[in-house]
Amino acid sequence: MADKKIIAVIGATGAQGNGLVRAILADTSGQFAARAITRNPNSDKAKALAAAGAEVVAANVDDEASLQRAFAGAYGAFCVTFFWDHFSAEKEVEEAGKMARAAKAAGVKHVIWSTLEDTRRFMTLDDPRMPTLHGKYKVAHFDGKGEADQLFRDAGVPTTFLLTAFYWENFIYFGAGPKPAGDGTFALTMPMGDKKLPAIAVDDIGKAALGVFKRPDLIGKTVGIAGGHQTGAELAAGLSKALGVTVKYNDVPPDVYRGFGFPGADDMGNMYQFKRDFNDAYVKSRSLEMTRELNPELQSYEQWLAGHAKAIPLS
Ligand SMILES: NC(=O)c1ccc[n+]([C@@H]2O[C@H](COP(=O)([O-])OP(=O)(O)OC[C@H]3O[C@@H](n4cnc5c(N)ncnc54)[C@H](OP(=O)(O)O)[C@@H]3O)[C@@H](O)[C@H]2O)c1
Repeated sequence: MADKKIIAVIGATGAQGNGLVRAILADTSGQFAARAITRNPNSDKAKALAAAGAEVVAANVDDEASLQRAFAGAYGAFCVTFFWDHFSAEKEVEEAGKMARAAKAAGVKHVIWSTLEDTRRFMTLDDPRMPTLHGKYKVAHFDGKGEADQLFRDAGVPTTFLLTAFYWENFIYFGAGPKPAGDGTFALTMPMGDKKLPAIAVDDIGKAALGVFKRPDLIGKTVGIAGGHQTGAELAAGLSKALGVTVKYNDVPPDVYRGFGFPGADDMGNMYQFKRDFNDAYVKSRSLEMTRELNPELQSYEQWLAGHAKAIPLS
């Protein structure tokens, strides 16, 4: 245990971080030990991680000193921010800066920054195809993360920039699954036209991140991951087959989606439109081959459905 390299994992009780902690604990190479970072080591999830063999350490991404303590002695750090907890890209940028500086101060040798594209590199703010949000973003929950890439470079920490993808689990937990259409069928609503949506099983993000920590040659590189590149129609067909009901793809214009009124609908509408309108670049940056190289257990959409379809709410 003493000679294992410690990987400090932010968000260890959440989707991405939990997958990474479990991947480290299950890794037969035994080269890494997991340090699970949480605000509350006494939560049931944190206790479960401790029972499974992780070291559990308290820290808050808003508190740089706590991050420095949590990163002390670690070889690697997995850094992620939590847009949907506060809807603020500025806060994500601030927190990323704190993580980057803390990793530098602690002498971390390999950071993974869980990032997304700064969509303002694809279109200017005055581009009329989608509204500008909060005065300076197109897709706020992408742009802040992409903007923060530079903070890791500025801090001088050895970083791999991990471009994540839409979680298929959004069909279960994020309200993005099929909804009753009123005629006995179900509608999967996404303003993606006939374009492909790179997506992934959440556990596979953690497994791919472990693969990145085994590849120091990826320091300084941007690596995109996905488990599948399906169109909306293909996603709906897979759901129909797995759920035994009729799910139809409902392609609405992005403006209609932005008007749905749920919190963040404008941001999500812009996100889907970005993925649709810049589809070639977006898909190309998330290679299935590279993801499988990092994570040989990568699940396909069909495999994910076989294990998870029962958990998708149909209401
Ligand atoms: N949904 C998608 O399809 C998707 C796709 C790509 C990227 N993303 C991005 O993924 C990010 C969220 O990651 P996730 O889904 O892994 O998160 P998550 O499942 O919501 O988990 C977040 C975890 O982080 C911890 N946390 C929250 N605030 C914290 C703070 N201030 N300090 C320290 N820990 C904190 C919480 O643990 P404790 O309560 O134990 O502290 C929580 O369990 C978002 O920024 C989102 O934009 C989402």
